[in-house]
Amino acid sequence: MISHDLGKEKGVYISTYGCQMNVNDTERMYTLLEMLNYSPVSTADRADLIIVNSCSVREKPVHKVHSEVGRYKDLKIKKPHLKIGVGGCVAQQEKKKLLKDVPLLDFVFGTDAIDQLPKIVQDLMAQNNKVVSAQFEHAKPYHVETLVRNPGVSTFVNITKGCDNFCTFCVVPFTRGRERSRPLRHLLQDVLNLTKRGVKEVTLLGQNVNSYTSECGANFAQLMKALASDTPIERIRFTTSHPKDFDEELVSVMQEHRDKIMDYIHLPVQSGNSEVLARMNRGYTREEYIRKAKMILEIMPGAALSTDIIVGFPGETQGQFEDTMTLLDEVPYESIFSFKYSPRPFTKAARWEDQLSDKEKSQRLYRLQDQHKQIAFELAKRYQNQKVSVLVEEYDEETGKANGRSTQNKLTHFQADRNLVGETVQVLIKEAFPQTLRGEWIR
Ligand code: SAH
Ligand code: SF4
Ligand code: F3S
Repeated sequence: MISHDLGKEKGVYISTYGCQMNVNDTERMYTLLEMLNYSPVSTADRADLIIVNSCSVREKPVHKVHSEVGRYKDLKIKKPHLKIGVGGCVAQQEKKKLLKDVPLLDFVFGTDAIDQLPKIVQDLMAQNNKVVSAQFEHAKPYHVETLVRNPGVSTFVNITKGCDNFCTFCVVPFTRGRERSRPLRHLLQDVLNLTKRGVKEVTLLGQNVNSYTSECGANFAQLMKALASDTPIERIRFTTSHPKDFDEELVSVMQEHRDKIMDYIHLPVQSGNSEVLARMNRGYTREEYIRKAKMILEIMPGAALSTDIIVGFPGETQGQFEDTMTLLDEVPYESIFSFKYSPRPFTKAARWEDQLSDKEKSQRLYRLQDQHKQIAFELAKRYQNQKVSVLVEEYDEETGKANGRSTQNKLTHFQADRNLVGETVQVLIKEAFPQTLRGEWIR
């Protein structure tokens, strides 16, 4: 039987929903809990502590959180010492209400309370009272060193937290709070430390990385330049960038350091219609967006683009939706992430009356995805018989199968005869699909 005595090793199970921010936060939680002698376990039934790191961006992930916690009911009866908590964006949004709605829960902690997790867990074990910690730390500077147990070849680095954009559909400004940036010198040191641990690639994370502003005044382009020039990191990626803040200075820095800064840009458009974009409060028109996308491809020929699209935003007419469809002919997106509009708490658009039916939203989503599927197959052909540069992330001794990502972020499979993990190799592509490439290693 697993003991819950302090001092003995205990098991923790964390399940993660949502974006890379949450994936990174989960890693931080595991690292912090390791200091309290908690080791990760692979299934919930072996855990003494279960944490659900939740996402609130659309209704579906919120439902998933509730049903997952519900599934632990029997486990809790069998193991009375088991503690269950919810962190992440649903926790931040609901705060103590979540404890009332889900009596099974022992604790709720918000997106700014992750570093307090060891204390929260200790208090919980000592007093057996339910705990809620969901304050925003707006006044504190954003100083967090990346915490990751086994960083591997590629890892995430938070550069900003929060979002001040208040797109009218989006809950994130309410669940992640005001935007704050980490100081440039901390980031340079952080990335340098990671390279000493074998990291070859970092993905800089923020809800809107382009609005990064260091306390010394450096902007995102200057941060990228400094990371490329002053640290030994081999590859730099970032997500997510906001079209309104994506400027020529940044694209020029990317082109100048193309050996290190990857030529893949995720540039969420949300809609191809300027009126819808205005009601979404996105800060750009269809024409401005297209101009920026073309500017990127002119300065960085061959770069890969992807986007996020919402269909069925309140009041979106059939004609306005058709503008989103035709945008696919204007901008060569290699992949799109598309969603049915989902009304979110606290947001302006959720209060508007002209909501579309689920059926209408589903039809639009289907048409958009279907059209893009064909485009994506066409676009993938450009990799056929081309050499791509791949940072190897996995190798299977038995089969010799290796894979990694090309600079344009395509998962690339090939055959190798030795462990190449961590090396950047050239692969000649023989088969090209929208998400994956298959080819031969060029020695
Ligand atoms: N900061 C990022 C987006 C984070 S949320 C940006 O500005 O691009 C990720 C994606 O979820 C968004 O780009 C949007 O397409 C989608 N999304 C956000 N809120 C949504 C909602 N209420 N309904 C449907 N999709 C939504
Ligand atoms: Fe949400 Fe808009 Fe901020 Fe992105 S930029 S997180 S979509 S409010
Ligand atoms: Fe979801 Fe929060 Fe990320 S709402 S998408 S986990 S910032």
